[in-house]
Amino acid sequence: MSTLFIRNATVVTADTHFVGDVLCENEKIISTGLALEAPADAEILDATGKFLFPGFIDPHTHIYLPFMGTYAKDDYTSATTAAVAGGTTTFFEMCCPSKAETATEGFATWQAKAAGKALCDYSFHMGVTRFDADAPTQLRAIVKAGIKSFKIFLAYKGAFGITDDELFAALTLAKELGVVTTAHCENETVISELQRRLLAEGKTGPEWHYESRPPRVEAEGVHHLMSFAETTGAPVYIVHLSCREALEEAIQARLRGVNVRIETLIQYLLLDKTDAERPDFEGAKYVMSPPLREKANQSILWNGLRQGLIDTLGTDHAPFDFASQKPMGRKDFTKIPNGIPALEDRVKLLWTHGVRTGRIDLQTFVAIASTNAAKIFGLFPRKGTIAPGSDADLVIWDPEATTTLGVSTQHQNVDYHAFEGWELQGLPSYVTVRGRVVVREGKVVGEPGWGRMLER
Ligand code: URP
Ligand code: ZN
Ligand code: ZN
Repeated sequence: MSTLFIRNATVVTADTHFVGDVLCENEKIISTGLALEAPADAEILDATGKFLFPGFIDPHTHIYLPFMGTYAKDDYTSATTAAVAGGTTTFFEMCCPSKAETATEGFATWQAKAAGKALCDYSFHMGVTRFDADAPTQLRAIVKAGIKSFKIFLAYKGAFGITDDELFAALTLAKELGVVTTAHCENETVISELQRRLLAEGKTGPEWHYESRPPRVEAEGVHHLMSFAETTGAPVYIVHLSCREALEEAIQARLRGVNVRIETLIQYLLLDKTDAERPDFEGAKYVMSPPLREKANQSILWNGLRQGLIDTLGTDHAPFDFASQKPMGRKDFTKIPNGIPALEDRVKLLWTHGVRTGRIDLQTFVAIASTNAAKIFGLFPRKGTIAPGSDADLVIWDPEATTTLGVSTQHQNVDYHAFEGWELQGLPSYVTVRGRVVVREGKVVGEPGWGRMLER
């Protein structure tokens, strides 16, 4: 039996905050309150002057990702080490089988990649990359095993992208099973045509990626998904929404009664289109889909988070090395592996640029970085809050601590940092996963194998 007592913290949840103590036993929070008695055998952490947050939840990551002719760089140990270093104690990974694999095979592969390697807890969104005669039985079994969300792609023609027939069938099944379908929304036909046209004009550099996927391409993808969600009645979740046009489509659908939730990413709040225009191919570090947008979108996304129009903040963590993988598209931007690393620093960046600047308050910070994902994906109140009975996933946050982000100090297994040299104030000093200290005085001390796949 292990007992942990956190003393005199400013305890913050999505609803409230108070100064008090938290007692944890056997992986769970037992009690919270003022001047609690510490058991004699407890490890005591003094959090005077510090915040205590529920462990943060990243709703969208890629760890094992065979994609665009290569593989994302992290494995479960490097990714979960990076996650806990940044205060993330649970994440969702996209399980993305190729079209050659069945759902059952894909789910088994992704589980095997994670088993025994994780420092923190995780779950999957089950990718539906083909919907054939076997799919319903297999997907039912996967949902029964505790994976209560699907992932579909309206982009990546010929790879993960599905047809409208498959989309309708997948959403119909999702509705019947009561699971949320997460969706990458971009119109794949328009993208292919724009890519073909740009390359024919000799426009081959990373800066042209944006022009092949302008805001209207994303807005059309959202509009398309909204029509299918409306007609099937299935609940849906838009991943990595990046711009005003897409948000407008989603909100209009919400006003019509479509059950839609919205995620944006830390990089869309803080980086912009000009990053992907950096000279000497450096822009390739910032090639992702949807692309980084015009800066004017940032205030719209911040406002969406502040006002509850956007529910969650993720990373879409997808690390590819700048030296060896991004150059696959040196002569053709359509071959640059899409994605950036961000899992480690999402919450730290959100604190410095969201809370410290006054863009969002403490409750919104906790809601968008933790609680809302737990609620949407069936983990609440086990995860996403600080309350008796919840898992003892906790982050003691030092608002005075500072750091400079960079490749030399990150835990992510990739050869660049998208926020190199950014200075932050406010860092996790202690992190627990089900009552076990995995970060102590800012250093990762957790062991691979403690993290579990969460059945939802
Ligand atoms: O550019 C991105 N987003 N890469 C990862 C795959 C995806 O679309 O989520
Ligand atoms: Zn995507
Ligand atoms: Zn993704």
